[in-house]
Amino acid sequence: MANPESTETNEAQLAVHWKEEEYYYPGTQFIAQANMTDADILDRFGEKNFPECFKEYADMLTWYKYWEKTLDTSHPPFWKWFVGGEINACYNCVDRHLPKYRNKTAIHFVPELESDPIQHVTYQELYVRVNEFAALLRDYCGLKRGDRVTLHLPMVAELPITMLACARLGVIHSQVFGGFSGNACGERIEDSQSRFLITMDSYYRSGKLLDHKKQANIAYETAHKLGKPPEKVLIWQRHPGKYSAETPLVEGRDFIINDLLPKYRGHRIEPERMKAEDILFLMYTSGTTGRPKAAQHSTGGYLAYVTGTSKYIQDIHPEDVYWCMADIGWITGHSYIVYGPLALAASSVVYEGIPTYPDAGRPWRIAEELGVNIFHTSPTAIRGLRKAGEDVPRKYNHHFKHMTTVGEPIEPAVWRWYYNEVGKKEAVIVDTWWQTENGGFLCSTVPALAPMKPGSCGPGVPGIYPVVYDDDGKELTAGAGKAGNICIRNPWPGSMQTIWGDHDRFVKVYYERYCKNKDSKDWRDWPYMAGDGAVLAADGYVRILGRIDDVINVAGHRLGTKELESAALTVEEVAEAAVVPIPDEVKGRVPDLYVSLKPGYKPTKELQEKIAKALSDAISPIARPKHVWIVPDMPKTRSGKIMRRVLGAISSHGATGDVTTLANPEVVETIRVMVQDEGK
Ligand code: PRX
Repeated sequence: MANPESTETNEAQLAVHWKEEEYYYPGTQFIAQANMTDADILDRFGEKNFPECFKEYADMLTWYKYWEKTLDTSHPPFWKWFVGGEINACYNCVDRHLPKYRNKTAIHFVPELESDPIQHVTYQELYVRVNEFAALLRDYCGLKRGDRVTLHLPMVAELPITMLACARLGVIHSQVFGGFSGNACGERIEDSQSRFLITMDSYYRSGKLLDHKKQANIAYETAHKLGKPPEKVLIWQRHPGKYSAETPLVEGRDFIINDLLPKYRGHRIEPERMKAEDILFLMYTSGTTGRPKAAQHSTGGYLAYVTGTSKYIQDIHPEDVYWCMADIGWITGHSYIVYGPLALAASSVVYEGIPTYPDAGRPWRIAEELGVNIFHTSPTAIRGLRKAGEDVPRKYNHHFKHMTTVGEPIEPAVWRWYYNEVGKKEAVIVDTWWQTENGGFLCSTVPALAPMKPGSCGPGVPGIYPVVYDDDGKELTAGAGKAGNICIRNPWPGSMQTIWGDHDRFVKVYYERYCKNKDSKDWRDWPYMAGDGAVLAADGYVRILGRIDDVINVAGHRLGTKELESAALTVEEVAEAAVVPIPDEVKGRVPDLYVSLKPGYKPTKELQEKIAKALSDAISPIARPKHVWIVPDMPKTRSGKIMRRVLGAISSHGATGDVTTLANPEVVETIRVMVQDEGK
């Protein structure tokens, strides 16, 4: 997993190896109501029934045309699911619920300001708003099936409305996390060759109304420089009827959606009959090279997988009020705020703001007010809420039956606080491990069937067969106590189809390393490599250690060290840059940045700030490094490679190991004194 000869450093190397914890068992009340109480599911989804077992998930959906082949493996590893089937995702999340749930809330939109009223969007209203916006996209913009649009929207009801309107038309949406910079958004417009940018004028964050239109201008300029400006910029108003950004509109380019919509009142659009393998959306994520890559997700397979896992792992019933506090700009939000819960006719909460605004009691007040009974969040949010007041949740009368944690390893002590204080010992917890590339959960306990183990996500979910390999491709047996690289042995319907526009990268990154036979058309020869280090316990539960590549998971957001380093290198004075992950009490991991300067430049506080700002501007404030260390020289091998491993050890106060073979061993001590004395 972590080669000691390596010059690199990664998250998995930093992982603290906590001990195996005792089981916690689901309560009888929870089991009595759970969607899945029949242990046969594990048998039904066992390998002998693969791939037909996934028919059970696809059958939860309404198809225009039933598929002919469940899994086509003729072009490994480009698997195709439900081949021949025809379906529309918007129809499945909206129209089909109208006869039974017309007046039930589909989306509770909770504005960040507590003084602003919560909006309850019923399925009927969602249907109307999605249709009218789809009419605008089709008739005003001329968008058609297969076109791409980039969305750069905050957490508002208009975001799922926009996604669903696109899905209705077969237009491929690519939502860029609203907190990402205009620059990052512009690069993604170009990569996806999007025809339009859809954004909002402003939104609330920590009580302030941010000018988001400013980012749209930067995005447009960036895409323009890259040779692919969007045809138009469409702008939702955060306060309908009032433009509330300081950045003005650009005539002929920028259009206010709220002004255009009245023309489309009452319009209804027939959903497109999409092929199961047609693309539903693109979702960008970071990888080992500087260039962001888009996971390309299908319509039928993806929707079947998120619907099935929402039902059995999230335990969502139509009568539940479900709140996933992630951002829809990430895969968690796509799968488990929008598509999964709405396909099951649940009421899904969309909260605009930060969890601690105006104080750490806010989530529990929202939960009380709306009767939220399923809650889903990340370890970073849990750590942040715990830090803001261990006993705050006790003061509220919310009651959850089920809670999820996702996105990062959760420390057992944090897990227990979540269980005891947030869940009041009433709720089951699922620790769900998966990735942007996967569409839905890979490892988790099935909540009514398997006990929970703090700090461990559990075995593969039904139909997922994980395996841990060592660096030589040897399988590490359960209970061996050794860390290795976690892979999934089989295809599953939620998996991305490829990396948008880069099939070679798809094969290389995820399949090449452990492929047993490149000519084989048997899926058994093509394990999927996730890029995480993991330990498999004797009971088959998986503990994820973190990334084994150049990706840092900062507060659940994936950032590529190469992206961060190239942003630092855009600063005139910087000659070399190296980023390493370091542990952080709240965010799990944060980037620490080392730079050396070009000759003639001097280290100053202003320069440190300028470099930190370059990272925020190029990517996002999340990317701001914990420190910018301006060092006289980088520790290097004799062949000139930067020893990130040594820098990582210094940053996290670990042992640097033998450095005598370096080209410049003396600099290690200089850097160590600089970094470790500063921290005192
Ligand atoms: O390292 C793993 C970590 O997050 C990475 C995936 O990040 P992203 O694609 O942004 O998707 C996040 C939400 C699905 C993984 O490679 N990760 C995700 N979930 C867990 C986790 N690490 C430990 N435990 C988890 N439950």
